[in-house]
Amino acid sequence: MPILQLMHVILGAGQIGPLVAEQLVARGKQVRIGRSTARKPGEVSLDVRDADAVARLADGAEVVYHCVNPLYTEWSELLVPIARGIVEGTKRAGARLVALDNLYMYGDTAHMNEDSPLTPRSKKGELRVRAAEVMLEAGAAVGRAADFFGPSPLAAIFGARFYERVLAGKRAEVFGDPDMPHSYSYTPDVAAGLVELGLNDVRGVWMLPVLPAEPTRQVIGRFARAMNRDIGVMSVPNWMLRAMGVFSPLIREVAEMTYQWRQPFVVDDSKFRARFGVAPTPWDDAIAASVAWGVRTYGQRLAA
Ligand SMILES: NC(=O)c1ccc[n+]([C@@H]2O[C@H](COP(=O)([O-])OP(=O)(O)OC[C@H]3O[C@@H](n4cnc5c(N)ncnc54)[C@H](OP(=O)(O)O)[C@@H]3O)[C@@H](O)[C@H]2O)c1
Repeated sequence: MPILQLMHVILGAGQIGPLVAEQLVARGKQVRIGRSTARKPGEVSLDVRDADAVARLADGAEVVYHCVNPLYTEWSELLVPIARGIVEGTKRAGARLVALDNLYMYGDTAHMNEDSPLTPRSKKGELRVRAAEVMLEAGAAVGRAADFFGPSPLAAIFGARFYERVLAGKRAEVFGDPDMPHSYSYTPDVAAGLVELGLNDVRGVWMLPVLPAEPTRQVIGRFARAMNRDIGVMSVPNWMLRAMGVFSPLIREVAEMTYQWRQPFVVDDSKFRARFGVAPTPWDDAIAASVAWGVRTYGQRLAA
């Protein structure tokens, strides 16, 4: 096999793209990374809406991984054109496409698997249905993940704000009802799932490896034990988010999605486990690694 056929191209270098690259390199693959603004050696700047630019970057590649995400406030304008640019560029390069997706298209469905009906109840959920259609029609493998946690400042509930508040002795902020079961995805498991889809010639929708669902309050209890401190829980009411949303378009977009924490939100990854034999990292290990990173990052910042 020519060496170039081993090339894997990762689009997006946010929470997941670099982890996908790291895991592919560990498995002996060559990688190229494309993002809006290259920041490290080996990265390439491009706008993935430009199919020609995607095709040039993916020239000779076997698989392209779509881990791109526009700003929440720009989804209406960018989400579908991004999917189209990536699909078209990947096709021209003759590569397979593996795309990372979320669960907004399932609306009120409490227990989600690959066969769940598409019933979005938000503007962003409708956009995700359209973007996924573009990719699935082109034969992509689409991996769906729940809310992220891991060594990442951007994780919705367990990101920078969580560590800054908790390390300062404040309560953790959550949305909706903290006693509803909720699925969370550990970011290295999301990357591992995408790599599995890339290394196997599969198509269609796959629920990526996800931790067994637990109430968010219980997950915060896990963080508390790992950090050896009490962590109170405070649910930010939706009326407050909506009021803040008058001034902040970003918070307005967050408020649209908090229904996911007001009802059970449980993902079933059994199809993925059965096909690939890959299970998520155990809760204790995932929490320990996340906390080690969070305390190292935000503990130092507080001490400075
Ligand atoms: N956050 C969650 O909890 C969660 C849960 C499930 C699924 N997901 C999904 O996972 C996917 C990845 O999200 P993420 O949170 O990992 O993303 P992220 O951290 O916000 O990173 C987004 C990346 O996309 C790049 N990008 C944005 N627009 C681009 C464009 N037009 N051309 C080229 N690159 C562009 C950015 O480049 P620069 O860095 O150079 O600006 C950045 O590296 C999304 O589909 C998201 O909806 C997220």
